[in-house]
Amino acid sequence: MLERAEAIIDQLISEVDFPQAKELFSKLSGGKRLRARLILTIAPAHPDAPLLGAIVELIHAASLLHDDVIDEAMVRRGTPSVNATHGSKMAIMLGDILYSKAFSSLTSFDPKIARSIAESVTKLSVGEMMDVAMAEHFNANRDEYLKMLYLKTATLIESCAYCAALLEEKDASKYAVYGKNLGLAFQIVDDILDIISDDATLGKPALNDFVEGKTTLPYIDLYESLNADEKERLMGCHGRTLETDEKEWLFTLMKKYGVIERSYRYAQTLCDEAISAVPDETALRAIITTVIQRSH
Ligand code: FPP
Ligand code: MG
Repeated sequence: MLERAEAIIDQLISEVDFPQAKELFSKLSGGKRLRARLILTIAPAHPDAPLLGAIVELIHAASLLHDDVIDEAMVRRGTPSVNATHGSKMAIMLGDILYSKAFSSLTSFDPKIARSIAESVTKLSVGEMMDVAMAEHFNANRDEYLKMLYLKTATLIESCAYCAALLEEKDASKYAVYGKNLGLAFQIVDDILDIISDDATLGKPALNDFVEGKTTLPYIDLYESLNADEKERLMGCHGRTLETDEKEWLFTLMKKYGVIERSYRYAQTLCDEAISAVPDETALRAIITTVIQRSH
């Protein structure tokens, strides 16, 4: 099923008719294709599902190209980012090509579907702006953080589930609830992995999010558990390269207060909510499991 979406992605890129863009695109790692997989799982037999999946994956790829420029990230999916190998200008323009191509293809869909996807991309851009603005300061506001996560990551996944259900004439609002909660859980697991996964060069977690100024859920939970002096020290570590002893201090306190387990539990609650919106969809349960159990 996914192969059909992959083939359409290649076809859309060929239609751009610019060898340099095609060459650059061919170097990107496709990733998990979660969004296309979701669409194809909800609307497996619909003839337009592979095209919708391809469109959404192009939009997602564009957003990551831009995100790596914004975050000044040198690595994406285990390989050097386009901004690292070809510079920020190329990364931005390739992103522009991908998402404008995706939007022209979107015009062949029912306006309800086209509008839902387009509106979710506006939200995702607002979420990215919020993320950057929030990283300027230590953010201890959980609601603000969850709102940003919803906009930055969950809205596009919510829209994928909603639109795939519209294609199949299923109850789209229930699928939207599933997609929203899956998207939130996905990003929370991503944030946890930044703290528990070993960096390839360091051999231990790099804590990139916190170094970049992003106070993700485990840090918010930690902040709430600390006394006044510890709170001050935590805020003093925010948004800069950390010394080894500072990292050790952070890991010790995170362990003491069980903040990683707490964030996992919260992600699991969101997954349970997702499943209860569409209890009969066993294939959608399997997607949830791959999200919550992934290690990268
Ligand atoms: C990754 O966040 C970023 C996103 C999910 C969204 C980025 C959105 C934009 C740049 C808006 C522009 C949109 C288009 C279509 C051009 P992250 O930095 O927390 O995750 P990461 O660890 O994967 O980098
Ligand atoms: Mg990023």
